[in-house]
Amino acid sequence: MHPIIREAYDAEIFRREGHLLVDLLADYLRDVVDTDQWQALAWQSPEAAFDFWNGMWQQSDGNLQQLFKETLARSIHLHHPHYMGHQINPPAPAAFLSSLLVDALNNGMGVFEMGMAGTAIERVVIKTTANAMGLGENADGFLTSGGTLANLTALLAARSAKAPEAVWEEGAQSRLALLVSEESHYCIDRAARIMGWGDAGVIKVPADEQYAMRTELLEEYYQKAVDAGFTVIAVVGSACATSTGSFDNLEAIGAFCRQRDLWFHVDGAHGGALAFSDAYRHLLNGIATADSVVMDFHKMLLAPAITTALIFSNGNNGYHTFHQRAQYLWADAEQVEWYNLAKRTFECTKQMMSLKVFAVMYSHGLELWDAYVSQMCDLGKTMAELIEAKPGFELAVAPQCNIVCFRYVPEGAAPESLNVLNQAIRQQIIGKGDFYIVQTMLRGKAYLRITLANPFTRENDLVALLDEVESQAGRL
Ligand SMILES: Cc1ncc(COP(=O)(O)O)c(C=O)c1O
Repeated sequence: MHPIIREAYDAEIFRREGHLLVDLLADYLRDVVDTDQWQALAWQSPEAAFDFWNGMWQQSDGNLQQLFKETLARSIHLHHPHYMGHQINPPAPAAFLSSLLVDALNNGMGVFEMGMAGTAIERVVIKTTANAMGLGENADGFLTSGGTLANLTALLAARSAKAPEAVWEEGAQSRLALLVSEESHYCIDRAARIMGWGDAGVIKVPADEQYAMRTELLEEYYQKAVDAGFTVIAVVGSACATSTGSFDNLEAIGAFCRQRDLWFHVDGAHGGALAFSDAYRHLLNGIATADSVVMDFHKMLLAPAITTALIFSNGNNGYHTFHQRAQYLWADAEQVEWYNLAKRTFECTKQMMSLKVFAVMYSHGLELWDAYVSQMCDLGKTMAELIEAKPGFELAVAPQCNIVCFRYVPEGAAPESLNVLNQAIRQQIIGKGDFYIVQTMLRGKAYLRITLANPFTRENDLVALLDEVESQAGRL
C-alpha cells in the first residue's frame, strides 16, 4: 500500500484528531450560548469567503484542527441564541455524534444488505412518526433527502395512483393539475413543473387574512379546472405555510378530497413535527386523513440536515411511484419489500439518515420532542406579545407556531418607505452579525421574519432583537 493511503486510514491519527474535534465541539456548545463570546454569524462577502478558502487550499499545511477551527469560526451558528433565521434547527449532540458513525459506515441503503441496521431503524422511525400523526396501521414510508424531494416523490406517487399510465408510460400528454394554497412552499410548484404540468397545472387557491388556504373556494377552483379540461388529481395542504407559519385547515381539505376522490397530500415539512407536541398537535387535526405526509426532522426535531420522512397512509402506495427494473439490485421489481428502500425512494444511494433521528429518540425519548416543539411554539407567542406591546412594531399575523413575521413602522413614516426601511434594517443586522434573521414579502409588504428553533433563545434575546431593529433603523 502506498504510504499516503496508509496514513489516510491510520486509526491512531483518527483517534487523536477525533478527540480534538469532539473537544472543539464541546467547547463550542458550552460557549456559543454566551452572546458576548460568539456571534450568530461573522458576515463575509462571497468573494472574501472564496479568497480565504482558496488561500487555505493554496497554502495547505494539512493541519486538520486548523481547518475545523476556521470552519467553525466562518459558519453561521445555529446553536447561538440569536440565530433566528431560516427553518433549520440546531442539531442535538446525540444526532450529530451519530453523523460521524453514519459517515464512517457509509452504508448505501438502496438494498437491505447495504444498510441492514439503517433500514430497520428507518422503519422504526417511520412507524413512530406515522403513529404520532394518527396515520393508521397500514401507514409506511421512508426517509429521503429533504422536503423538496419528498414532496416531489409524494406527488409522483399521487400521479401514479390517480392517473396510472399518464406521463410515466405515455409521456407528457395529459393535462394534470393539483390544487394548493397560494402560500405554499415553492417546491410544490417546482414539483408540478418537473412533472411536466407547467404553470397551469398548479392551481393556486387564495389564502385568507391568516395566510391559510380558503378551503371554501376549493370546489369553485376545482370546477374551473375541470371545465378547462384539466384532470385534477390532488390537493396539497400546507402545515404550515413557510412564510408565516399558518396552518391550512387539513380537516376541510381532507373532506374535500374524499368527496372528489382526490389524493390528499400534506406538506408538513415544517409543522408536521407538531404531531409530537401535546400542546400544539391540534393544529394538525385532519392530518390522519391524508394519503401522504412529508415532514423534515431537520427543521423541528433536532436532526441535522437533511432528514425527511415521506409517509403514505396506505404504505403500498409508495411502491407504485417508480416501477422500474434494476436487475442488479433486486429480482422482482413489482414485489412489495419494505427492506429494499430504493424501490420507493428517488435516490439510489442514500445516506443512512435514520440513525441521526433514532439516536435522539433513543437517548431522550419522545418527551424531548414534545418539550422542544412546545417550547419553541410558546416562544413564538411570547415574541408576538412583545411586538404588540412595543410602539413602532407591527405583526403580520398572530403566529400559530414558531415562525413570526413583523415589521418596524416608526411613527410618521411614509407607508411607501417601509419596505425599503425594513429590508435595509435586515441587511444592517446581518452585516453586524449579532443576530441572524430573514425577511419575506407578504402581499407587497416587506416583513422581518424569524423562526425560533433554538432552545437557548430566551425572552431577553427577543427583547434585544427588537431593540436592535430599532437601533439599526435609527442609524438608517
Ligand atoms: C412547507 C415547506 N415545504 C418544503 C420545504 C422544503 O424543505 P427542504 O428545505 O427540506 O427541501 C420547506 C422549507 O422551508 C417548507 O417550509
